[in-house]
Amino acid sequence: MNSRIYIAPVQGHTDAAWRHFHQLAYGGNNLYFTPFIRAEHGGVRDRDIRDFSGPLSANHQLEPQVIFRDMEELDLLLTALEDEGATRINLNMGCPFPLQTGKGRGAGFIANSAEATRLPEIAARYPGISLSAKMRLGFSGHDEWRGIMPVLNSMPLRFIALHPRVARQQYGGDLDLDMFAEFMKESANPVVFNGELKTPSDISDMTERFADIAGVMLGRGLLGRPSLAAEAAAGEEWPRERRIDEMLRFHNALIAHYEETLCGESQLLSKIKPFWEYAEEEIGRKAWKAIKKAGTVPKYRTALALIE
Ligand SMILES: Cc1cc2nc3c(=O)[nH]c(=O)nc-3n(C[C@H](O)[C@H](O)[C@H](O)COP(=O)(O)O)c2cc1C
Repeated sequence: MNSRIYIAPVQGHTDAAWRHFHQLAYGGNNLYFTPFIRAEHGGVRDRDIRDFSGPLSANHQLEPQVIFRDMEELDLLLTALEDEGATRINLNMGCPFPLQTGKGRGAGFIANSAEATRLPEIAARYPGISLSAKMRLGFSGHDEWRGIMPVLNSMPLRFIALHPRVARQQYGGDLDLDMFAEFMKESANPVVFNGELKTPSDISDMTERFADIAGVMLGRGLLGRPSLAAEAAAGEEWPRERRIDEMLRFHNALIAHYEETLCGESQLLSKIKPFWEYAEEEIGRKAWKAIKKAGTVPKYRTALALIE
C-alpha cells in the first residue's frame, strides 16, 4: 500500500474551500476528489468548473469526479474537464441517491452492462486522461458488480475505490467485507477500501485484514475528525486536545474565508455549520447540539466555546 490517503467526495462538504483549508491545516500526501459533476443542458455548470479549477484548488492533488448515465454524457464530461486541464478523472458508479440511480447514474449504472461495454471505447478517445472508479457492490444485489467486472478488468484503471454496500443500504447497515474480498480477488485493477473508517485503528485493522489493498478512502470519519488522514499517515493517534486544537484552527481559517467571500449571516451559517455535521463524537453532544441550533453568528460563537 502506498502512503497516499484518498479523501472521499462528499457533496455539500468537500468543496474547494474545505479541501483547500484542510490541506493547508494538515498537509500530507492526500488525493482529494470533487463531489460528482454531471452533465446539465448539454454542458457542465460553471460552479462545478470553478470548484475544480479555481484558485482554491491549486494547493492540493485533486481528481474531478463525474456521474453519467450513458457514454454520450460521459464523453461530454470528459471533453469539458480535459479542456479545463484535467489529466485524471474518477467515474462515479456508486451514488445511491434515487434522483441519480433512477436515471441510470451512479449505482444505477452498475446494472447497465450493455452501456458499460462501451466504456473502453470512450476512454480510448482520451489518451491524456487516466481514469479511476468509485463504486458500490451493486444497486440491490451484493454480486451485481460481477456483471461489469470483465469490462473494468479490460481497462487500465488507476484504482477502484469500493464501498462494500449496495445502494439500497444508502449509508447505513453492514459492510459486506466477504464480498469486498471477492471483489479484490476478481479485480485486475488496484482496489481502495472505503467505508466507516473513523479512527487510526479502524484503518490499521482494515489494512491488516486486506494487506493487498491499494489504499484507504476516508469520508464521514475524516469530516468528523479532520486529523484522521494525518494521524493515519503518521501511524499514531493524536491526543484529543491536539485534535481539537487543530480542528478549530482549520475551522477558523475556513470561516475567515467565508466571512470574506459570503454575504450575510444566514449564508455564512449555512456554509459553516455542515463542518460539524459528523463531529458529534469528537466534540461532544452538548457543543454539537448548540452549534446545530445556533441561528445567529454570536450564538454560533457561543456554541463553539462549549467545545472542551
Ligand atoms: C451527504 C453525502 C454526499 C456524498 N457525495 C458523494 C459524491 O458526490 N460522490 C461520491 O462518489 N460519493 C459521495 N458520497 C459517498 C462518500 O464518498 C463515501 O463513499 C461514503 O460516505 C462512505 O464512506 P464513509 O463511511 O467513509 O463516509 C457522499 C456521501 C454522503 C453522506
